[in-house]
Amino acid sequence: MTMTETRVPTVENQPSLHYTQRTHYCGELTAQQESRTVTVNGWVSVNRDLGGIVFVEVRDRTGVIQLVADPQRNPQIHPLLSSLRSEDVIAATGVLSHRPQETVNANLKTGMIEIYPESVEIISRAKNLPFLPENAEEVDESIRLKYRYIDLRSDRMQKNIILRHDIVRGVRDFLNDNRFLEIETPILIKTTPEGARDYLVPSRVHPGKFFALPQSPQIFKQLLMVSGMDRYYQVARCFRDEDLRADRQPEFTQIDIEMSFIKQDDIIQLIEGLVTKMLATAGVHVQTPFPRMPFYEAMARYGSDKPDTRFDLELVDFTDIMAESEFNAFKSVAQTEGSVVKGLCLGGTEDYSRKDYDDIKAMVESWGAKGLAYIVVTPEGLKSPIVKFFKEDELNRILERANAKPGDTLFFVADKRLKAESFLGRLRLHFAKTHNLIDHSKHNLLWVVDFPMFELTDEGTYSPYHHPFTSPNPDDVHYLATAPDQARALAYDIVYNGEEIGGGSIRIHNRDVQHQIFQILGLSEEEIQQKFGFLLEAFEFGVPPHGGIALGLDRIVAMLSNSPSIRDVIAFPKTNQAICQMTDAPAVAALEQLKELHIQVSLPKPATPAQKA
Ligand code: AMO
Ligand code: AMP
Repeated sequence: MTMTETRVPTVENQPSLHYTQRTHYCGELTAQQESRTVTVNGWVSVNRDLGGIVFVEVRDRTGVIQLVADPQRNPQIHPLLSSLRSEDVIAATGVLSHRPQETVNANLKTGMIEIYPESVEIISRAKNLPFLPENAEEVDESIRLKYRYIDLRSDRMQKNIILRHDIVRGVRDFLNDNRFLEIETPILIKTTPEGARDYLVPSRVHPGKFFALPQSPQIFKQLLMVSGMDRYYQVARCFRDEDLRADRQPEFTQIDIEMSFIKQDDIIQLIEGLVTKMLATAGVHVQTPFPRMPFYEAMARYGSDKPDTRFDLELVDFTDIMAESEFNAFKSVAQTEGSVVKGLCLGGTEDYSRKDYDDIKAMVESWGAKGLAYIVVTPEGLKSPIVKFFKEDELNRILERANAKPGDTLFFVADKRLKAESFLGRLRLHFAKTHNLIDHSKHNLLWVVDFPMFELTDEGTYSPYHHPFTSPNPDDVHYLATAPDQARALAYDIVYNGEEIGGGSIRIHNRDVQHQIFQILGLSEEEIQQKFGFLLEAFEFGVPPHGGIALGLDRIVAMLSNSPSIRDVIAFPKTNQAICQMTDAPAVAALEQLKELHIQVSLPKPATPAQKA
């Protein structure tokens, strides 16, 4: 390197710890500051040269402001301003001016004003970016997640994160005003079952032992009630190793709440106030009280425990008619205790082809249904492979039951009650999409109440419908010994436009009832003691009746920001494969670390070519 080639500090590479700090945020400047010298700091978002006049937009969290280099007014700044590249970070100082009438931008908060800078400092240069924030929406999500910090600069993402903040702030204010204490619960715990797989953390100090990450703070918040804290909340991170979807993340946030000396109605009323406030933060105004619907009614009418009531298309029950018919596939099911033949009557099917029906049938069967029968109602009569099995009078009753008219198609599923209803509920949602049945201006909130305590699995075991700490309805306690699946729980879910945004219950606070529930769930005495002995013991030292709820914060913010996925309202989410695209976690651990943890990794052997074939 010759002397002349020695690199001198240039704008490009000198450290710029010294720069002029802003007097104002870009988006907060108004005509009131006109004629004043102001400084803004931010990112270059647009640079345009229009016949010698250079316009640059500078952006910060609050918005943008236009900088102008005009050969007539501030020629000295022209070369620098036109050299700026997208996403450079700058400080610009100059007099704030009114824009000439013809350049006023009515779509912009600061569209009336602009700055003619006297000085511009380049604080940090940006290379060519993988994408520009303003184009983020057209970019593949995996690229957005890899460069999440660029994605987060976009207007949409900034708005989402700010909305989330505003909602959480409102929640804290509301709960603080209602005498709640914000209390943190541990992240390294034993296990709190919520029905998903645990994430485990190995203990270095105790070889071979593991902590679990909480699926929810459930047990701790109950123990806080035993501790006399009376009212608890937490903006709580929960960890669940489950199959991910648009509305599920492996770590997500709950507004977690627990209260002592409280009844179901009190909790519902309080949460209606809280949710109303959360929605109002996003400009959505709803009336309380929210309707309440028993679980079995939700299933019977909508085929879902989170019914979307923004459109009708309710399920129709044909069981009694089918029980008297000669169509054996349905007759035998209809005559079986606990089984039903139910259906949907869908309008606007005039142009359905044979293939459309075959595709729908295949879809429903892929969900696990045994079949899907249909009857097409046309002005010329009924068309269906199954009409031949019915008498004229039965067909008339079927049509009348469903209020069917030409142009409609009836779809039928025969199965055990909840199964048949679930398949039809899914089909109902499918038709809502394909037939555009949802009125998106609606904000329908409702409570689903009177859930069953248990689900009877196909293996004949019982699993909790919510979690094992949910109190049975006192009227149904006698079922626990005889027919546990008949017992209703004091549990409630809150549903918003067909999404479950929260769930809770009155808890068991009696040691013996809690013990009995563990037994019904098939836990041995040893397992009960090993997993939950501490809880049962706590229940022997004076327990207030208590109950609570957890609201899914991510889901609520996603819905209120019209985001297609909760990933859009989480700063650094995981992909559907449960990885962090930006940092590449999870990653292989160093051998040394594994040794310290006494862990040996044994990976499944890669398939041989023969096995692959
Ligand atoms: P539950 O399991 O119903 O109840 O969870 C409460 C709410 O949390 C949201 N949620 C999720 N959001 C994003 N990703 C996930 N993987 C995910 N899983 C759940 C849902 C759900 O309604 N301890 C009980 C509450 C209680 O009884 O007080 C609990 O966790 O919106
Ligand atoms: P099959 O007599 O079994 O050939 O059935 C005649 C029609 O009834 C077919 O279209 C099947 O898909 C339908 N079907 C059979 N079982 C069921 C069921 N459980 N629910 C709904 N449709 C069914």
